[in-house]
Amino acid sequence: MIKLAGLTKRYGDFTAVAGIDLTVQRGELFGLLGPNGAGKTTTLRMIAGILQPTAGTIFIGGVSLARDPVAAKSKLGFIPDRPFIYEKLTGTEFLRFVAGLYGQGGPDIDRRGEELLALFDLLDWKDELVESYSHGMRQKLIIASAFVHRPEVIVVDEPMVGLDPKAARLLKDLFRAYVARGNTIVMSTHTLEVAETLCDRVAIVQNGTIATMGTMADLRSTTDADSSLEEIFLKLTGEKAARSAVEVLSA
Ligand SMILES: Nc1ncnc2c1ncn2[C@@H]1O[C@H](COP(=O)(O)OP(=O)(O)OP(=O)(O)O)[C@@H](O)[C@H]1O
Ligand SMILES: [Mg+2]
Repeated sequence: MIKLAGLTKRYGDFTAVAGIDLTVQRGELFGLLGPNGAGKTTTLRMIAGILQPTAGTIFIGGVSLARDPVAAKSKLGFIPDRPFIYEKLTGTEFLRFVAGLYGQGGPDIDRRGEELLALFDLLDWKDELVESYSHGMRQKLIIASAFVHRPEVIVVDEPMVGLDPKAARLLKDLFRAYVARGNTIVMSTHTLEVAETLCDRVAIVQNGTIATMGTMADLRSTTDADSSLEEIFLKLTGEKAARSAVEVLSA
């Protein structure tokens, strides 16, 4: 459903994404892990069609994003890491606006919008301006907006950040139900528990390339079987544990 070949992004001399090859199957929930600055957001923004690759190709459901961006993007919903919403729209208006970008509207979209707002406990706020929403409420509205036009693929950058435990649980259930219906999700996360419980497969991105890929069980088996997820991640990314923080403080 998503096929990346040689995907590359350079900023001047700096290479943020260095030739990523990846295929995500229909019905799969795929996770990107990796240290800060590894290139996860850059990769996701290129898949979502909001950042132009320097080189490489992206196919969404067999459609080239470069050759036919409108057709490819019509299959996509994107949930960015930093929610940006026009402050002067209400929740309902924002969902209508996003659906409109995909050429959709009318009673069916309004009904679906209401269902999504209800799911995220936002129904009482649907006619309030977004400027009065808390951070988590904005995040939930952005998430609802990615589902409103019924895309086949959802691209999500750190979806759990800022959500309360109930909303985080709801989102996990929503994502699993969505892929169970044959849709596809590619997401980034720093929460290893989320990667383990939610993702079918993960890739660890490091310095703009995929360092390791497989199920969390695969990743576990490449290190000590009884290691904690945190230890596995630190080993696979070659990161030092927090001991150096103690050294800094005691220096
Ligand atoms: N517009 C830009 N100009 C120059 N460099 C950039 C730009 N955007 C991102 N980068 C660089 O590209 C690299 C990858 O950034 P990216 O945001 O993709 O990382 P990430 O894996 O999402 O990190 P995090 O876990 O912190 O979200 C970083 O070194 C970053 O500084
Ligand atoms: Mg990021």
